[in-house]
Amino acid sequence: MSLQTKQLRIGIIGLGVGEAHIAGYHAHPDCRVVALCDQDAEKCRRLESVYPDMTLSQQDSDILTDPEIDIVSIASYDDDHYQQIVTALEHDKHIFVEKPLCLKREHAAHIRELLNQKPQLKISSNLILRKCPRFIELRNKIQHREFGELFSIEGDYNYGRLHKVTEGWRGKLDFYSIVLGGGVHIIDLMQWLTEDDIVEVFAYGNQIASRGSQFRFNDLVTCVFKFKSGMVGKMSVNFGCVQPHHHNLNIYGTKATFTNQMQGGYLYTSRDASVEPRLMEQPYPGVHKGDLIREFVQAVIDDREPAVSREEIFRAISVCFAIDESIHRGPTKVDYI
Ligand SMILES: NC(=O)c1ccc[n+]([C@@H]2O[C@H](COP(=O)([O-])OP(=O)(O)OC[C@H]3O[C@@H](n4cnc5c(N)ncnc54)[C@H](O)[C@@H]3O)[C@@H](O)[C@H]2O)c1
Repeated sequence: MSLQTKQLRIGIIGLGVGEAHIAGYHAHPDCRVVALCDQDAEKCRRLESVYPDMTLSQQDSDILTDPEIDIVSIASYDDDHYQQIVTALEHDKHIFVEKPLCLKREHAAHIRELLNQKPQLKISSNLILRKCPRFIELRNKIQHREFGELFSIEGDYNYGRLHKVTEGWRGKLDFYSIVLGGGVHIIDLMQWLTEDDIVEVFAYGNQIASRGSQFRFNDLVTCVFKFKSGMVGKMSVNFGCVQPHHHNLNIYGTKATFTNQMQGGYLYTSRDASVEPRLMEQPYPGVHKGDLIREFVQAVIDDREPAVSREEIFRAISVCFAIDESIHRGPTKVDYI
């Protein structure tokens, strides 16, 4: 039966942000979430009555190996993504995986290899800033040359939820990277906005804000990078900042400057202090965590690359690996997987 004539069957593993995936799938008429999985028995019991038409299980293999399931959403803890992706691919599932794809360079390379063997399978990842209306408008403006030539881009992933690493599962893992866990959103955003590739990075990190807690990794990483075009960028991934969650973004072109501040997004088209910047009306963040999913389902049906493509997932994570390596090695060329 062709994919177009059958309703796709979905399973979701991990029901934190994974629960928000349900609405994303149900926004598409040709698929149905049939199975949910969470290792937490209490959560499963609670959700059974909320989703009576879905099966609930504590074992990820119930979804990953079920021949009736076409698409798997992976929204488990970061260190489980790799093995779940491998098993899903072995069982011919399309995959929508929460970021990060995985935690180790060799794991990413292995996933890449498996995907190459099964080019018919689609994979996408929840790099959700792509759906922010203000950033979509910015991309339009960049493409229409309203910024002139870009020469600098800066972004900060200001987490604003330090307790999630000092108290939650992130601080209990054998390895956690704030670059892979948070910075990946900014890296993807920058490369998507500018359609340029980061080729070299240089990073520093520290752990002061969460010192003495269960968390054992850098909670601040700051880096500079060089793009293929000659543009230069910088980014901080700041999990310790005392402020609400926010993505700072500054884009500098020869004709315009944009700055995304807490108070709003401003577009400057003059160096004259008496000329007011234009406030961008488009909402920020203005996204629901399931917003990329409808399009992903359509890509599976149409047998084409999804909006967040396979190439782009590896492009963003390759830069993240280079940044983490650079903290110990100094300037590091990005080795694209
Ligand atoms: N795209 C985004 O903006 C975004 C936002 C938040 C979280 N995330 C990602 O989503 C993933 C989950 O984070 P969260 O914030 O939802 O955490 P969470 O603690 O709120 O929920 C995770 C749930 O998954 C379950 N789980 C974990 N590993 C499992 C496994 N192997 N099998 C079955 N169930 C499992 C846990 O019991 C828990 O209920 C992480 O990878 C995180 O990076 C992405």
